[in-house]
Formats: sequence, C-alpha cells, structure tokens
Amino acid sequence: MNCIRIIEVLPTPDALFHAAAAEFIRIGRTAIAERGRFTVALSGGSTPRSLYSLLAKDHSEFAWDHTSLFFGDERHVPPDHADSNYRMVNESLLSKITIPAGNVYRVRAEMPDAASAAADYEKQLRDVFKLASGEFPHLDLILLGLGTDGHTASLFPGSDGLREQSRLVIANWIEKFKTHRITFTFPVLNHATDVMFLCCGSDKAAMVEQILEGHSTPPFPAQQIAPEGRLMWMLDEAAASELNR
Ligand code: 6PG
Repeated sequence: MNCIRIIEVLPTPDALFHAAAAEFIRIGRTAIAERGRFTVALSGGSTPRSLYSLLAKDHSEFAWDHTSLFFGDERHVPPDHADSNYRMVNESLLSKITIPAGNVYRVRAEMPDAASAAADYEKQLRDVFKLASGEFPHLDLILLGLGTDGHTASLFPGSDGLREQSRLVIANWIEKFKTHRITFTFPVLNHATDVMFLCCGSDKAAMVEQILEGHSTPPFPAQQIAPEGRLMWMLDEAAASELNR
C-alpha cells in the first residue's frame, strides 16, 4: 500500500463532522485552485448525512459551481425512495446550496435493470473525465463508509463485485439483501487521489479495529482501499474505542 494512511480520532460525533467538513473544503479549494474543478464522490448510508448538513449550513458559499458531485454507490431504487442515497444527499445538501444541476451526476437507479443503470453511470463517468478505453477516472476525493461486516461503497464480502478490475461501475448482487446495488469498483476507488472513511459510533469499533489492525484472509473489502494519495480514517472516539493507541 503506497498511499499515506492517516487516522484521526475526534472526541465527539460533532467534532468528527466538523473536522471532516473542514478537510472536504480544504481539498476542494486546493483542487479548484490547481485544476479549476473539484471532483468528489459522496458516500451513502446514514453516517454522512450530518456532514452534508454541516457543509450546507457552514459552507454554502463554497465554489459548488466548480464542483462535480458523484455517488460512490446507490441502492436500486428511484431517487424519491426512502432508501435512496441521492434522496439523502438531496435533502441534507443539494436542496440547501446553489449548485448547477449539470454538476450533480446521479445514478439513474430508477432504471428497472440494475446492470443498465450501472452501464449508464459508467458512461457518465467516461464522458465527464473524457476517458479512453482502459483508463480510470482520478477523482480528487471519494468519501466512504464502513459496514459492520467490513463492506464499503457496495462492495460486500463474498460478492462478485470484489473481483471486477476493468469496469468502473457495476450492478453488484448483495445476497443478504436479495437486491443489486450500483457501485464504483475497486479500480475507481483506488485511482482517487484521496479517500476519506467516515466512521461514527461504538457499533463500528470492532470492525474498525479489524480493518486497521487486523489481518483477515481474505481481506475485508474496506481493507482493499489504497488510493494514490491519502487514505484518511476519520473516527469518533466510540468508533476508535478498540484500537490499540
Ligand atoms: C450505502 C453506503 C454503505 C455505507 C455503509 C455504512 O449505500 O449504504 O455506501 O457503504 O457507507 O453501509 O452505513 P452507515 O453509515 O449507515 O452505518
């Protein structure tokens, strides 16, 4: 693993989300200053909602017009569905800031066929990053969460998607949920410049310890994340409670 691994433990969830928001904005400002654009993929689930709300509340003046927002994964549901990651991001961030609609790249997860939704999203990525065949996008930042089973994005232990090495986006069958999830593949996650894991709460402590200090065979999906630049683990005290510090 050539990336720089950084583990930051904050005393409370509120302090965690403030630190994550500050880092998000810092990375964004640097990307825009250097390349005129900030490309970032947001994570789903419940944990990042507080981060997105904070970005909307404290950083509405950020250069969202120079920011391209993507989704690292999506549930196979329409955008108004309660399980939709897009809906969560729209409610907590997009509906509260001024960002051109064309800057938000949504997974068209309302498509009946999950594989078609994945292929469509891959095409969106290839068009935006002007990729040639075999090339991968270099996002400035990808946000990720951690499941208590060691999954990240929608790359779950034992799922076929773990082996994908050429496509950018796949429809990954998740046996325990009996559904597909549309998700970035490991090559996309690992071609990012920076990856930020956001973990909060004692229910994540055991898996955080295994991911950061354990050596499981096969490795958990979250242990297979190695971006080109920095791998940041942003934890609150409860999520870090089982680490040997
Ligand atoms: C999703 C996520 C997923 C999430 C973890 C943690 O669509 O659910 O992308 O990978 O980050 O499941 O979820 P919580 O934050 O809800 O614990």
